[in-house]
Amino acid sequence: MTSLWLDTIRTIPTDEFEPEATYDDVIVGGGLTGLVTALLFARRGHTVAVVEARTVGSLATGSSSAVLSQLQGVQLQKIKRRTYQGIVDAYVQGNREAFDWVIAYADEAGVDLQRRDAYSYATSRSGLARVDAEYQVGRKAGLDLAKTFDVEVPFATLGAVRLRDQAQFDPLDLVAALVSDIRALGGLVIENAHVSGVDAGEPATTHTSLGDIRSERVHLTTGTPILDRGLYFAKLKPRRSFGVALRSVPGDDLPTAMYESADHPNRSFRRHRDLLLVGGNEHGVGRASSEAALADDLASWAEAHWPGAERSRVWSGQDYATPHGVPFVGYMPRGHGRIYIATGYDSWGMTGAVSAARMLVSDVLGDNSSWMKAIHHRATLPAAMAVGLGENAAVAWHFARGWTRALTNPLVEGETPPEGRGRVGREGFRPVARSTVAGETCALSAVCPHLGGIVAWNDQELSWDCPLHGSRFDATGRVIEGPAKRGMHGLTD
Ligand SMILES: Cc1cc2nc3c(=O)[nH]c(=O)nc-3n(C[C@H](O)[C@H](O)[C@H](O)COP(=O)(O)OP(=O)(O)OC[C@H]3O[C@@H](n4cnc5c(N)ncnc54)[C@H](O)[C@@H]3O)c2cc1C
Ligand code: FES
Repeated sequence: MTSLWLDTIRTIPTDEFEPEATYDDVIVGGGLTGLVTALLFARRGHTVAVVEARTVGSLATGSSSAVLSQLQGVQLQKIKRRTYQGIVDAYVQGNREAFDWVIAYADEAGVDLQRRDAYSYATSRSGLARVDAEYQVGRKAGLDLAKTFDVEVPFATLGAVRLRDQAQFDPLDLVAALVSDIRALGGLVIENAHVSGVDAGEPATTHTSLGDIRSERVHLTTGTPILDRGLYFAKLKPRRSFGVALRSVPGDDLPTAMYESADHPNRSFRRHRDLLLVGGNEHGVGRASSEAALADDLASWAEAHWPGAERSRVWSGQDYATPHGVPFVGYMPRGHGRIYIATGYDSWGMTGAVSAARMLVSDVLGDNSSWMKAIHHRATLPAAMAVGLGENAAVAWHFARGWTRALTNPLVEGETPPEGRGRVGREGFRPVARSTVAGETCALSAVCPHLGGIVAWNDQELSWDCPLHGSRFDATGRVIEGPAKRGMHGLTD
């Protein structure tokens, strides 16, 4: 379902595509990372074009809870466990500068942004241990964190860590301002142009559904990189989570700060105007038995704690986690120094995307600051390797499970799934994905065109989702997101 932000009508017209045009920098993907990258390059006098497959901000950025905070749940201790203090310090410094950049930019561009305190709170003893660890690691990295038992939420908590004066906003307001400023500097933002490949020649050529364009450099800011060079799809963990907007909560009961739980399952909440916004139930893409049940569980949790609250909107979105918790930013291997990537914000992209965009620009201009150098030169420790190996084992398990289940479940010939449902099974020796949406039954090959995983039905978004590397397709098989470059095959392909 469309998020609260994407449902608000804004006029962000697309620029005209000029085939064979040449730019300094082509940016693939018009989310927060791509748009900030384009603006920063345009401000340095580069000619830029952003090429977006759908509409700007329509994936993770437009699904975001848009909490702009340097206190990020329990992220810092995760990074500390898997790397070392120097990387935590660099990550915090990058986020601090990104935070300041967004605050200053919102002010100058007239984006409505509200300052709020941020809390990571605990409801269990293990959560309290995480709260304490976040306090220790964050303080060491220079964050002005405070421990508190004064947590104004409608349920019992054991304590929290707080960072004053963070921020929240409507991410599409920021997107609209960025597009307008890129244009004012002569840059182009082209929508509905799907990029299918990039040749790292001199100049580089970007192949889009509207034609080819050329540039000195190409920046892939597409969530997971759309090119398989560097095998980033195998290093990233694709995760989905939900957003719920609830109305009819009395004003005095709406949260005055932004809260993130340190417990499992994860919960976050904040206020947006007269609505309560709740997020959580993060899970692996294509790995939940019912996404609709997870969404319902989150909404029911909110209704139980804010009596009288009524669901007005439920949506979900996708982000990517790296094995060490620090984004991948920089040159793409075998991209001849012409192709760059930025991904892996682990659900903290409101600062992470801006930090990454600043790194991309500094990489090209050769003015990396010390925190950027520390992130580029980080060593991979056994703890991060173990996380990566664990994810690879999970991928292998989901591959085997998907094929076994598909081949041992014969589909009944002519059977039509009920409205909003999808089924995977065997027709002859072929895994087939059959669904019914808006009265149309569609039968496709259930084999993901990326690397052969078996897709699973997402009963919340009515999409086919691949549990291996997170590619997603609509009911007719068209690519929505992920590393797959083409759609699911029809049965006659
Ligand atoms: C539910 C949810 C809640 C979140 N809440 C928070 C929060 O409170 N605070 C926080 O800091 N972070 C949060 N995040 C994370 C944050 O929203 C993301 O990290 C950030 O928006 C990622 O931005 P992006 O530009 O990298 O990706 P996206 O916004 O996904 O942009 C990538 C773009 O690339 C385009 N694209 C992909 N493939 C192609 C192609 N082949 N050709 C052309 N274009 C292509 C896509 O259409 C898309 O528009 C949340 C994320 C989710 C999912
Ligand atoms: S996304 Fe890689 S196999 Fe499906």
